[in-house]
Amino acid sequence: MKATAIANANIALVKYWGKRDKKLVLPYNSSISMTLDGLSTVTTVEFSKKYEKDSIIINGKELVKDEKGILNHIERIRNLANIKEKSKIVSKSNFPIAAGLASSASGFAALTLAATKAAKLELNEKDLTILTRQGSGSASRSVCEGFVEWYKGDKDDGSDSYAESIVNKNHWNEFRMITAIVTKTEKKVSSRSGMAQTVNTCPYYKCWLETIDRDLELIRNGIKNRDFSSVGQTAEYNCLKMHALMITTKPPIIYWTPATMEIIDFVREQREEGIECYFTIDAGPNVIVMCLKKNEKKINKKLSELGGVMKTIICGPGDGAKIIDKHLF
Ligand code: DP6
Repeated sequence: MKATAIANANIALVKYWGKRDKKLVLPYNSSISMTLDGLSTVTTVEFSKKYEKDSIIINGKELVKDEKGILNHIERIRNLANIKEKSKIVSKSNFPIAAGLASSASGFAALTLAATKAAKLELNEKDLTILTRQGSGSASRSVCEGFVEWYKGDKDDGSDSYAESIVNKNHWNEFRMITAIVTKTEKKVSSRSGMAQTVNTCPYYKCWLETIDRDLELIRNGIKNRDFSSVGQTAEYNCLKMHALMITTKPPIIYWTPATMEIIDFVREQREEGIECYFTIDAGPNVIVMCLKKNEKKINKKLSELGGVMKTIICGPGDGAKIIDKHLF
């Protein structure tokens, strides 16, 4: 009862921000993302009578405080499979977790696939995204390949809130996301608590929800037609709307630092010079610059030279979660 899976991180073009059901992780709005080629987590899960307790080792370190609810998720899978065996979980990401990059999306996607396989549950991709979602919302999108939509769904039981690919990774393999890392420290407010605080206290949350369907439509069509200007403009504005919510929440959540602003200015200058690129920012200060392959080198070089940028990582569209043969233990 042992299996290993690999899953990539993803970055949203239309952001998920706010839950209508915290327990089942059901969002108020649908979201769209790109799965990132090469930013991956590998996870091996074994259920066995030989283990007296569950244990989790992430990047070589035993986890003492399970803040992300990994064991809750394992228990959920044990209940589904009707098994009692304790588990050993070993997980490794090929990007530094402390670099402020979201590892929970690739992490929960790999964990869910490995654990369900080890528990001998045969789930189709849709059901796998539904189960993964309950561990972490954005992780549901990392199950799928290329450009992905996670539907908010309307049902109370969450059975219609799942993710699926809009197009596979080869449909638009010129699309690039360059992550500019500006800090190594962990963010002070997690996405989970930040979005709850927003729903509870932000006076503009209703406006956000009113404009989401239009953003989704523009991005969905933009992806299908490979319309970079439309996708870039809409994604950038959607990110600014999400940060406007964060800033006007009580107490305010401001993730940006001077380095964040430096990159935003840089992107605008590039556009003025005729080099098309756009930015998006998650719940943290790092900035993701979107461009096409033809401009990747030029932009990456200049971006890397900015004072506040510590490191850049370039990704194209990547694969969904997969079972692999090579176990971590
Ligand atoms: C800003 O998926 O980490 O990155 O469902 O509570 O685990 P939980 O939250 P999480 O939130 C991601 C928020 C975001 C936007 C996005 O990826 O869509």
